[in-house]
Amino acid sequence: MTKQMKQTELPITDEQLIAEARKAREFAYAPYSRFPVGAALFAKSGKVYTGCNIENSSYGLSICAERVALFKAVSNGEREFLTIAVVGMDSSPVFPCGACRQVLYEFSPDLTVLTLDNNNVIKHSLKELLPDGFSLQKDKRDE
Ligand code: THU
Repeated sequence: MTKQMKQTELPITDEQLIAEARKAREFAYAPYSRFPVGAALFAKSGKVYTGCNIENSSYGLSICAERVALFKAVSNGEREFLTIAVVGMDSSPVFPCGACRQVLYEFSPDLTVLTLDNNNVIKHSLKELLPDGFSLQKDKRDE
């Protein structure tokens, strides 16, 4: 296998990434909403970065699982991502909120977003969820 193939081939299944998101959900700190969320972000490097929502007594300072995962990844030198899995209550799908969509779009407009609907994996592109995301970088606007 060439180096190039290694970078683009997905060495993790959707189900495995969902399983990582479920594990991350265990660490959610959500005493106010009682709505734990877990996220697992698969980087082009092959590494997975997880996050959970972390709430605060000052509600507006709470942060979503997706942004925790992304910020962990970027602060470890990652810039490009292939897939994010997001899980809340398993029975109904959780889609990233508008703010998280824009934050994810900054790094990977072509990201795939996975979530669960009654234990079935459902898949969207970030561009479907955020058409015309904002970018100051002309090359990204033209994509
Ligand atoms: N939340 C996430 O972590 N990700 C989402 O995609 C939707 C919402 C969190 C924020 C808050 O802690 C709780 O879920 C209820 O809104």
